[in-house]
Amino acid sequence: MSKFAVLGYGVVGSGVVELFYKNREKIEEKAGHKMDVKYILDIRDFPGDPYEDKLVKSIDDILNDNEITAVAECMGGVEPAFTFTKQCLSKGISVSTSNKELVAAKGDILLELAKENNCNYFFEASVGGAIPIIRPLHKCLAANSISEVAGILNGTTNFILTKMINDGMKFDDALKLAQELGYAERNPEADVEGHDACRKICIISSLVYGKHVYPENVYTKGITDIKLEDVQIVNNWGGSIKLIAKVSKLDNGNILPTVMPMIVPFSNLMSRVDDVFNAVMVYGDGIDKTMFYGRGAGKLPTASAVLADVIESVKHDRTVFSQMWASSSDNSFVEDYKNLQAQMYFRTESGSKNEVTCIAGNAEFIYDENNQLAFLTDVISIKDAQNIADKLSANGIKIVSVIPVLGE
Ligand code: HSE
Repeated sequence: MSKFAVLGYGVVGSGVVELFYKNREKIEEKAGHKMDVKYILDIRDFPGDPYEDKLVKSIDDILNDNEITAVAECMGGVEPAFTFTKQCLSKGISVSTSNKELVAAKGDILLELAKENNCNYFFEASVGGAIPIIRPLHKCLAANSISEVAGILNGTTNFILTKMINDGMKFDDALKLAQELGYAERNPEADVEGHDACRKICIISSLVYGKHVYPENVYTKGITDIKLEDVQIVNNWGGSIKLIAKVSKLDNGNILPTVMPMIVPFSNLMSRVDDVFNAVMVYGDGIDKTMFYGRGAGKLPTASAVLADVIESVKHDRTVFSQMWASSSDNSFVEDYKNLQAQMYFRTESGSKNEVTCIAGNAEFIYDENNQLAFLTDVISIKDAQNIADKLSANGIKIVSVIPVLGE
């Protein structure tokens, strides 16, 4: 019998317990062992909960019980999750986590610690909710040289954007609904300001390119500045505005990770990824491109990924997987985001097409109404786009929006 503990009895933790008991027989069959949840750690009380007898308030109850061989960490946040995870791994207890903040901040340390103690630190649930993406990137696509990974990695913001655009819902109401459905972070600023997507692209970047990428080194912009007028203009042109987290490998050997709203042309399947769904497009020399799609947040979708890792821990007890990356003491391999190359969308007020063309060079005008112009440039760098914006402003042309366009 393999007994495991669940740390944190919030949305994801309670989903892990619920899904385990719902599918226990199948899970045991796949793990090749009888299994049970022995403890649930949470500082809160849950009177009347069907698993109330399993609730404990101290991590020591779990650490001091030699029957525990695996833990599902669903607490979120860096502390105390970091301390508890280190304590478990140091005892040889494998940890499976949905905690992207912790993996993005301390993944290198925890992976090394797991290896030293002959156990595993798994984090499939930390990126893309239900979507299998960590193991496919590490294993199934291992023969490729990956040139880019681009994704919609935050369910809450994609849900908010979809509700605002398709149902005319106000931002605050859409966010409230996302919170009620259990999609949003405890502090939803992490979703709307792009920090959650940033943590996820850091995890993907670290895994794919082999060195720890820290969130503070990744340019991150959320969705709060997106204007409905741009959404409509872009939609009429043939695209959607999405919060895109991406990382590219550059010819100089550096990597360029960013999180920002981008225009996704309808020819790119990600333009059609709506609601809480996430998608990850992987570009490699063998595969060309492969897209992964599924529910990116929510109780059972995330629990499904956590439990899959718990099953893997139980099934392969004492087998240490190579899914890891090196620590990085400097960030010189992370390129300045201003060197990102893309077509740029500008919306301006006042100014003629002639004036704009003189400053911006080639411009494809896609809107010309109400004294406003919207146009797309050739592929240029963000640095060049800023120069164009400065020159337009210096000529009395007001810049309303600048949004990069995602390629195919
Ligand atoms: N708040 C996150 C999201 C939860 O909306 O994507 C899943 O990581």
